[in-house]
Amino acid sequence: MTSEIAAKAAFDHIRYAQLWEDADVLTQALGDCAGGTLVSICSAGDNALAMLTLDPAKVVVVDLSPAQIACLRLRIGAFRNLSHPEFLELMGARASTQRAGLLDRALAGLDPDTQTFWQALADDVALYGAGGVGKFERYFRIFRTRLLPLVHSKRTIDAIFETRPLAARQAFLDQRFNTWRWRLLLNTFFSRFVMGRMGRDKAFFDHVDGSPAQHVARRIHHAAVTCDPAENPYLHWIMKGTHGAALPMTWRAEHFEAIKARLDRLDIRPGALEAFISTGEKADGFNLSDIFEYMSPDTFAQVYGDILSAAAPGAQLVYWNMMAPRRMPPQYAGRVRTLTQTEDRLKAIDKAFFYSDLIVEEVTA
Ligand SMILES: C[S@@+](CC[C@H](N)C(=O)[O-])C[C@H]1O[C@@H](n2cnc3c(N)ncnc32)[C@H](O)[C@@H]1O
Repeated sequence: MTSEIAAKAAFDHIRYAQLWEDADVLTQALGDCAGGTLVSICSAGDNALAMLTLDPAKVVVVDLSPAQIACLRLRIGAFRNLSHPEFLELMGARASTQRAGLLDRALAGLDPDTQTFWQALADDVALYGAGGVGKFERYFRIFRTRLLPLVHSKRTIDAIFETRPLAARQAFLDQRFNTWRWRLLLNTFFSRFVMGRMGRDKAFFDHVDGSPAQHVARRIHHAAVTCDPAENPYLHWIMKGTHGAALPMTWRAEHFEAIKARLDRLDIRPGALEAFISTGEKADGFNLSDIFEYMSPDTFAQVYGDILSAAAPGAQLVYWNMMAPRRMPPQYAGRVRTLTQTEDRLKAIDKAFFYSDLIVEEVTA
């Protein structure tokens, strides 16, 4: 089975060097998976690693892009060969002057293709961290270094991350942050044209409705007011180029040893998710990232049905929408239950504020 998006977008470079989907939300949505088989889209690999904390028998990791698979392989080497503080330095969560050496150590013992791939990126890794070298992160970097300084001072940017009560967060957004310059920047930078050119492949906007800038403004309210920015690693990276005190789940010290001890439960299968379906295996949970949004509604409905055929009863499907609405196609209503309460609870705490919707569905038959 071919994958529609594979034919449209080029996958020869790293698009996402870190996962911009909240693994705290993902793992809570998947629930109790101990001993089960999980399937994850790889992307940069962080969320497949986070799924190991659920103590599954295995996590099957798929991705159409060899570059994205290489991101996971690097992390495996880094978990094996580095200490936790070194891991954070290599990835770019923390400032570092020793990333070249850390990269060499992380690559030791990995396959030659992964080594060659990352050695070619060594200069960028030294500058930005291994989590900063994707196209998506480059787009944020241009925003942060060239455009944001035209709009806000460093003092205002730093002030975003001071902990304050909800009403004070609203006041900060209204009075200090949401200036006319900021609104102009938002409308320009998040225009379809610029996002297509710099952030995402233009093919990814084929099915998206509404203006990206309007969407981003709504999501900024979620990240800056509804949630506490001081606890948001994603916002911190975008605004300051590293993480602050808050880290994404997979990168936190508390999970380092558990993930490291379970790395051999990863079953990496480069290629389309659709290939897993044809093996006849059944999975108890799926992390589907936001891949459905990249498909036409018809293809989505077909792939969704195929996934159901590879799902064990009780399996959870977890996925996001950024701008295009994708939820269970109506013809599957008898076989799937939407876990609305779980969705609402988790949407309220989702720190990756890009997404307009989080979907958690349970396969009943
Ligand atoms: C859909 S993108 C979204 C990335 C995400 N928002 C993030 O923060 O990383 C994630 C990955 O899905 C992969 N992908 C898309 N469609 C796929 C498919 N049908 N099978 C396997 N991988 C797929 C892409 O190669 C990409 O690396």
